[in-house]
Amino acid sequence: MSPLDFTVEELENLFSLANDIEHNMDKYAQKCVGKKLATCFYEPSTRTRLSFESAMLNLGGSVIGFSDANSSSASKGESVSDTIRVISCFADICAMRHPKEGAPMVAASKSSIPVINAGDGGHQHPTQTLTDLLTIRSLKGEIKDFTIGLCGDLKFGRTVHSLINALVRYPNIKFVFISPPELKVPDYIISDLNEKNIEYKEVISLDEVMSELDFLYMTRVQRERFFNEEDYVRLKDFYILDSHKMELAKKDMLVLHPLPRVNEISVDVDDDPRAAYFKQVQYGVYVRMALILTLLELV
Ligand code: CP
Repeated sequence: MSPLDFTVEELENLFSLANDIEHNMDKYAQKCVGKKLATCFYEPSTRTRLSFESAMLNLGGSVIGFSDANSSSASKGESVSDTIRVISCFADICAMRHPKEGAPMVAASKSSIPVINAGDGGHQHPTQTLTDLLTIRSLKGEIKDFTIGLCGDLKFGRTVHSLINALVRYPNIKFVFISPPELKVPDYIISDLNEKNIEYKEVISLDEVMSELDFLYMTRVQRERFFNEEDYVRLKDFYILDSHKMELAKKDMLVLHPLPRVNEISVDVDDDPRAAYFKQVQYGVYVRMALILTLLELV
């Protein structure tokens, strides 16, 4: 499942459902009684796995799964295709994270239950994008007419790739890509933006563009995807958003981050009313509840 599997109209329905869930949790508390979610995580996670599990429990369902490939039969050489066939016998829906790009898609093609991509390598992170879009929509009222700065590791950051992919479908969104030259947005994304005539620019300095932004989407430098530690150490603290930098921003600019953060947002920003990254985590639960209900055809 990718956000692009849904039309913009279908996404609107999903977000409306998520907002209804947010305000009427009790109404949904029994919707998934008797249903099971399997979380198959071959890579570490805090938010995505636990928010999926929390979402299913909030809906009255149950959860099974593994959070480490080494505790599954992948460690004995079992393929993702075989694993999902097995999981299909146990659960009604599966959320899968895998270090190999495309693995959840392969699983989905062999599965008799819905398989949700919970992050595949440096490729995509569709449910983080649903979370990001719901956060933008809920806090600003609509997804259109804004400038978003994406800052940090735009090469390996899968949340960035998914978010750009989704936002190009909304009207009048301008992108500012802020990264060191080594961590620029991949060429295939730039080609897509050029083909679609979407306005964007690539810069190195965050300070230079701060005052233009309506949203600033900070990202962590993805240590686990680097080929050598030396490059990671050189680049990891390239950007640090702190309260001094926030003085350059619009009074209503919102700071988003998929989390986890390392050093790229100083904790002194957390108390700034424009810091929306912990609210974003909460929206992640509502949108995953909406997604589970939609994919299980329970709405
Ligand atoms: N945002 C996100 O994917 O966080 P986790 O790696 O903790 O799931």
